[in-house]
Order: sequence, then C-alpha cells, then structure tokens
Amino acid sequence: MKTINIAIDGPAGAGKSSIAREVASQLGFVYVDTGALYRATALFSLEYSTQEEFLRALEDDCHLELKYFGGTQCIFLNGDNVTEKIRTPEISMKASEISALPEVRAFLLETQKDIAREFNVIMDGRDIGTVVLPDADLKIFLTASAEERASRRYLELEDKPDAPTYEQLLEEIKQRDYNDTHRKIAPLKCAKDAVRIDSTTMGFHEVCEEIMDLVEDRLDLE
Ligand code: DC
Repeated sequence: MKTINIAIDGPAGAGKSSIAREVASQLGFVYVDTGALYRATALFSLEYSTQEEFLRALEDDCHLELKYFGGTQCIFLNGDNVTEKIRTPEISMKASEISALPEVRAFLLETQKDIAREFNVIMDGRDIGTVVLPDADLKIFLTASAEERASRRYLELEDKPDAPTYEQLLEEIKQRDYNDTHRKIAPLKCAKDAVRIDSTTMGFHEVCEEIMDLVEDRLDLE
C-alpha cells in the first residue's frame, strides 16, 4: 500500500522538529528528523583525522539506525545511542559542513527513502521536498527570521550550563543558513509546490493548526 509522506523543510531553528513531532503525533504518523542522520554522520567523521579517511570508511563502517520509543526518535551509531550526544554546537556546525559532501548525501538518501516507503511519515530536513521525497503528498517550507530563530534557541538554552549568548547563536544560525543554502548539492530551498509558512510572528499552536488545516484540505486520510 502506498504510504503518505509529508515533507517539512526549512532553515535551522525554524521549529520544524517540534512542529513536525506534534503534527505526526496528531496524525499517528512516524516523525523522521533527518538532521539526526547528518549529525550522527558528523559525529562519526570526528573519529577520522582527514576527510579522505572519513569518506573511505563511511560506506562500510558507519552503521546508522533509527529506532522509535513511544513515538520518540532515537539514533544509534554503530550500536551506541547517540541521540543526546549529537546535540552540541560543534556537531551542528560539523553536520552542516559534511552535509555538503556528495558522498554523504548519497549515503543517507536511500535510508530516508526507505523509511518513507515503509511508514506514513512527516520527515523534516533541508531537501526533503526537493530531493528525498519529490512526490510527497504535502510539502511545507517552514521559516522565520534569523533573529527570531536565534532568540527561540536562546530561550531554550539559557538555563543550561555554558549556554551560548544570543549573539553567538545568531552568528551560528547565519553561518549554517549560508552553508545550507549555498552548497552545490541539494541546497536548502523552497520546493516549487511547497506551502511556505513564515512563523516569525506565529506561535507553536498556530503553526500546527495551519499545517493540520492543509493536511485536511489536501490529503485523503480516510
Ligand atoms: O536539522 P538539523 O539542524 O539537525 O540539521 C543539521 C545539519 O544537517 C544542517 O545544518 C544541514 C544538514 N541537513 C541536511 O543537509 N539535509 C537534511 N535533510 C537535514 C539536515
């Protein structure tokens, strides 16, 4: 049976994952955070001192698995649960960097397509509507101003030890936006048939409702 696929793309910090997770739970779909695949690959790359060594090892030695516990996605790298470990600023930058490599994109492409063939999914990333699932049933491009995204991240992190400053977060977001939109292969861009939602002045529930309305209008979920 054909599965239903919803693609959500957009820049770092636009709220894709929390919104996609909520909408997936309302629909009973699997939420797939594809950024975690790039992040775990970035973590793997740190074991190698040169890019050549990393790319040589990728195919044979980097085993990634996504597992779901009560709807929450966990990612395993060579048997280790690295779900928490990949959420550092260092890994964010490294993931953005290695995601420009054609070998890395090719390596992760089939994994993503396979999951979407198997389950009804909401998949979030940068190239889901353009490359991974060009025939997705619904495509959303979720964005917000860089300042708003940095300020949301700042509020999430401010109580943590060694929390970055707002300025550091804004700088990091701008750098990742630049990397993600300027790479040669599968750059971040809004698919022609995607619905663009700018959440700069919208709340979490408002965005979820807008997406649920689109789902009702456009998908036959009977
Ligand atoms: O969504 P995220 O911030 O966890 O993603 C980390 C990096 O991975 C992001 O800067 C770019 C890359 N990425 C990508 O190139 N394509 C995707 N589908 C998802 C993430």
